[in-house]
Order: sequence, then structure tokens, then C-alpha cells
Amino acid sequence: MKRRILVTSALPYANGAIHLGHLVEYIQTDIWVRFQKMQVDEEGSPRECHYVCADDTHGTPIMLRAEAEGVTPEQLIARMHGEHTLDFKRFHVAFDNYYSTNSPENRGFCEEIYTRLRDRKPSLIEKRPIEQFFDPVKNMFLPDRFIKGECPKCHARDQYGDACEVCGSAYAPTDLINPYSAVSGAAPVRRQSDHYFFKLGDCAEFLKGWTRSGALQPEAANKLDEWFKAGLSDWDISRDAPYFGFEIPGAPGKYFYVWLDAPIGYMASFRNLCDKRSAVSGQPSAGAPAPQFGDFWNAGEAGKANTELYHFIGKDILYFHALFWPAMLNFSGYRTPSKIFAHGFLTVNGEKMSKSRGTFITAESYLKQGLNPEWLRYYYAAKLNATMEDIDLNLEDFVARVNSDLVGKYVNIASRAAGFVTKRFNGELANLDSEDIAFAYGFYKATAARSAENLANAYEARDFSKAIREIMAFADLANRFVDEKKPWEIAKQSGRDSELHQTCTLALNLFRWLTVMLKPVLPKLAEDVEAFLGIPKLCWADLGNALPAGHRINPYQHLMTRIDPKQVQALVEANRQTLQAAQQPAPHSQVRHPEAQVHAHQPLAAPVTMDDFGKVDLRVAKIVNAEQVEGAEKLLKLTLDIGTETRTVFAGIKSSYDPESLTGRLTVMVANLAPRKMKFGVSEGMVLAAGNGGGIYLLAVDSGAQPGMRVK
Ligand code: MSP
Ligand code: ZN
Repeated sequence: MKRRILVTSALPYANGAIHLGHLVEYIQTDIWVRFQKMQVDEEGSPRECHYVCADDTHGTPIMLRAEAEGVTPEQLIARMHGEHTLDFKRFHVAFDNYYSTNSPENRGFCEEIYTRLRDRKPSLIEKRPIEQFFDPVKNMFLPDRFIKGECPKCHARDQYGDACEVCGSAYAPTDLINPYSAVSGAAPVRRQSDHYFFKLGDCAEFLKGWTRSGALQPEAANKLDEWFKAGLSDWDISRDAPYFGFEIPGAPGKYFYVWLDAPIGYMASFRNLCDKRSAVSGQPSAGAPAPQFGDFWNAGEAGKANTELYHFIGKDILYFHALFWPAMLNFSGYRTPSKIFAHGFLTVNGEKMSKSRGTFITAESYLKQGLNPEWLRYYYAAKLNATMEDIDLNLEDFVARVNSDLVGKYVNIASRAAGFVTKRFNGELANLDSEDIAFAYGFYKATAARSAENLANAYEARDFSKAIREIMAFADLANRFVDEKKPWEIAKQSGRDSELHQTCTLALNLFRWLTVMLKPVLPKLAEDVEAFLGIPKLCWADLGNALPAGHRINPYQHLMTRIDPKQVQALVEANRQTLQAAQQPAPHSQVRHPEAQVHAHQPLAAPVTMDDFGKVDLRVAKIVNAEQVEGAEKLLKLTLDIGTETRTVFAGIKSSYDPESLTGRLTVMVANLAPRKMKFGVSEGMVLAAGNGGGIYLLAVDSGAQPGMRVK
């Protein structure tokens, strides 16, 4: 039976860089997809498997971050799309399509699914007013995580609206003492507005059945049972303007909540892939026929086409994928996922990734240190299984494991055998005909075939750690063969040429099989091996067949170096040091607060000396004029009096200040900053203001101070 598979990974938020935690998921999925693509089904054609993903681009944090950077959300998400695409490519995560949720296809599906749910009889959409906190300065409703205040239990200051990070208690934002908006600092007011709800409670019977259909891991199914017991409440799927997202049809000023349009982004990315493939399918270069969207998504057709749909996700977003998503699909005429594969969270050295420990490591910084992405792919594979348990990146173990397994056991086989073949036998492989070699060959061939089956089962079941154990057991056997045969000794003796030739040939064949086994994990290395052995792309069926006598290999070149522990230390140091620039969202544990990411605390900068600080000439400045700058998104043009002279400064404070309100007030400026030529003119210094991506707060000087006074 020919299998037809569609696979997704969760869509990363477009407001943060890809980090090693994300990579657990994308590497896990990519290994699984590569394994599938190496399979040939009964009809003799490669298995059909499509892997799609996209950036998750909508929502309040992205809107606010773009505003803080003085760019449009579209500009921000375009830049992030470029960065994410590059990170994935460098880690060899090979999507068939990497799209965006801010796409026409996605808008179309969102509108269609929503209207189908709305128009059902009885309707699954309900409108009702709710009361929420509203920021009277920013003129926007505030998500819970954007309200801060004093914890009602322990009285810690500056706690988020849903839970206290100091004492751990959970509460409603209304419980906070002296609440304030994290965006503008203003005291929020209560305001009512109409919201749209998806009536999840009405889907409970369907969801209970679906949960028992085998689509979930046992732990996930248990989690769902807990949720059923607690009762399913209706889901608020609308947000009021201003919001970066899709407007709801028939509801002006109301937008789809980001979590409604994000999973629909899986469909949109696949639709886009189908269209791109069918656009080229008439051309001579076209490979397999373009997939048909309906075969994979329409409830009726998917059953007939016998297609499979799998979502890889982290355990933190199970609620969205195991409740909302199947319910939305089922009640709008689409098929439901065949399986949801949830994985655990990454810890580094046994602890949550942490910026202060330098273990919050971005994909980019890993590569910048010259670390090989396949080392990480291998290590993750060696750790991953099909459960939702967290996986630990122990940095010492990482070095030891990669060096001993990949370099010591695997690559070593090729490096020990290839030299002789090149130098003594013109690069040509022998016929495996001497009695003991033929016997050994038979033994290894049978072992490889058995491994092939165990391995395929382990890969299919996402038990990659088991697959790696199986592969390394085979590598141990292969090394034992080489150790026992001792080609380096045979080579010194005359009259044993044929034995040397056959030994090395068999060793290279063992190495080739190991390469097939590891290819889903180490695709780049496998490619290098294919070039070295002078062979076409290896596929699963190559396990158990040997290269023909007389086949010519290329001279061996280093396939993989060892990790130097110093590189890993440098990586941790680099991530400790680049803290203030990074502004990454804090790693999450179980509960997700997408809205919170802009306001992650900024860690302290590295210490400077008194001398360093003394180089900065800070002066009291009086703002004598402030005006808008034509065409500038975030700048105001300020004229500053510093006693001896006036300065023109362009300050990025427009989002928080009206020019009129600024004239006449005192503030602090850096007076000896080298003038900077900007698009709108020369800026002769800088005013000081506080902020972390949300509001901006200009420094004030107590009355009595005179313009030009030095600030120390
Ligand atoms: N945008 C949502 C997903 C929408 S899917 C329709 C989101 N984005 S995310 O960028 O925060 O996370 C993307 C994926 O990476 C999620 O599956 C998440 O679980 C996973 N991980 C993020 N941090 C992780 C770790 N520290 N460890 C393991 N996986 C992690 O959620
Ligand atoms: Zn508290």
C-alpha cells in the first residue's frame, strides 16, 4: 500500500529568534520526514511525504514589537521570515514549504472555517459582551499578561496579571493591587466590548470520541481526560482593534485571535505548496505529480485517498492542537489529524534554559561558534523518544557522546579502510570472495537486514534513541571486524594484498550501511559520504546490498571533526555576554503566554569601570521645541538647549509622546555622542529614556536644575 503523508511542525512565532529549544521539535520532525522519504512503498515509488511549516505572524506582541522598532508588522515579519528560513536551512531542516500565516490563502481558510462554524444549525459561534482591562492612553484592550501590578498574596511589585513569579500564586488581573498597563504605564480601566466565542463545550462528545481514537499519546489522552473532567469552556476567538491579524467577516473592528489562524496556517502552507507544485508540474524538470489539496484535507476525499496527517508539537500547546483544532476541523467539513505527536521541553544541564547561565542559546549563535549542526542533530536523536518527557542537553555529555560515537565509532571505519583502497588498489573495490570474508559478509548482511527492520520500526515510532542504540551496536560490530582483521598489519606483509583489499572493501560496505542508517539524522554527512564513495543518493533499500567489485571510490577526506570542549564553553560565554542585545522571549514551561514576550526582563549589562562611565558627557537639556518628522514612523525632532548651545536630536519616542507635551520640559542628553547622519537629518546627541519594547519613558530632571549642568 502506498503511503501518502503530510507532516507539520508548530509554527514558530515571528517575534523571536530560533533557539535550541525550538530545534528539538524541528530536528525531530525533520528526522522523521527524512526517514519517510527514504522509504519505497510496494509500487516501487518513493513514499509520498510533504513537510510544511510557516511563521506564526499575528498578535499583540508582534504588533507592539514592530511599533517599538519603528517598522510595520509586515516589515518585521518579512525580516524574521528570512532569519528563520536561514536558521532552518543551516540545521538541515528541509521543509517542502515554509510559509507565513499572514497570507491570502490563510485569510481565505480562516474566513471559510469561521463562516462554516457560524452558519451551522445550531451555530458554534456566539457573540457576547465581556468586560476587560483597557489602556486609556494606548486606546487598546490589554491581554492579561500586559497588565502588571502588586501581587495580592505576597505583595511583590511588578507582577503579571495572571500569576506571581515570586510566590507562584495564580489570580485574575482584577486581583492585582495598583494595576498598570505594561504598554503605557497608565492605570487600566474596565471596559466592555463584544467578543466572539467558539462553543467548544458543544463539541465535547465529538472530542471525547476523537481522544479515544488513538490519535494521541497515552499521556496526552490522560491530560485531555483531566480537561474533560474540568469541563470545556467556550473559546474567545476575537480581539478588538488595534490588532495585527485578519478581520472577522461581518464583524468590523474585530480580529481573529492569533491562535485561531495559526493552525489554519498548516492548511495554507500546504495549499501554497500544491499551487507551486502544480505550476511547475507540466515542465520537464517536474518530479512527482503535484499533491491535491483535497486529498489531504477534505473530510470525504481524505478517507478515500487514504492520506495521513501528523502534527509535531511541544507539550505546551497540546490544548490548542488536541481540542480546538480537531473540533474546528471536524465541524467545518475538514478531516482531523491522524496523530498529534507531542514532545517535551529542552533543558540544558538539567535546568530550564537560562540567559544568566548562558544556556539560552540561539541557533545563530551555535553556528557562529563554528559548531557543526549535525552534532546537535545527532545528540537530540540519541535523546529523543516518543514520550512527552523533557529532554536534557548536557553539554559535557554532548561533547563526549558526539566524539565517541560519530568520530570514534562511525567515521573512523571509513578513515581506517579508505586509505589502503586508494593507495594500493587504485580506489577500486574488491570482490568479496575469499572464504572468511564471504562468511563475514553474509553475517553482516543478515545483521544489517535485521537492523533495517528494527530501525525502521524505531524511526517510525519516533523512538530515535532506540534507533541510535541499534545503529551504534552495529558500528561496534563493524569496528570489531576491523580490529580483528587489523588491515594496518596485513598491509605490512607481502602476499596478503587480496586479503587487505577484501577487508577494506567489506569495511567500506559496513560504513555505507551505517551511513544509510544515520542518513535521516545526518543528511549532510550522508551527502559527503555519497560523494566520497562515488554513489547515487542512498535510500533505505540499500541496507543489505553491497557495492559491486571494481566500483571506484574517491580519496578519503575528513568527514567530521571532534568537538573541542572549548568551543562549547565559548558558546555559553557568548550567550552570557550578548544578553542585553538579545531580548529573547523567556523560555516557557507548561503554560503559554504569547502576549508576554515583548516584555521579558532585560538582564544587566557587563560591568564597566568608572573611567568608562566618565567618558559619557551627560547634560541637563531643556526641550525648546519638539515636532513630528515627515515620513518617520517613530521619530520626533527635538531642539535642545544645553546652556552653551542648542542641539538637534532625533529621538525614537513618537509612540509615547505628543510633541506639544514635551516643549519646556527638562531631560537628560548625551552631549558628546558623535553626530549621526540619519535619513531625516543629522542627530547631534541622544536623549535618555527607559523602555523594554513596550512604552517609552523619558528621564525627568527635578525643577531648579539649569540647562547645561553636567549629570554625574
Ligand atoms: N506559534 C506557536 C505555535 C503555533 S502552531 C499552530 C508557538 N510558537 S513557539 O515559537 O513558541 O514554539 C514553536 C514550537 O517550539 C512549539 O511546538 C514549542 O513547543 C516548541 N518549543 C519552544 N521552546 C521549546 C523548548 N524549550 N523545548 C522544546 N520545544 C520548545 O508555540
Ligand atoms: Zn506573590
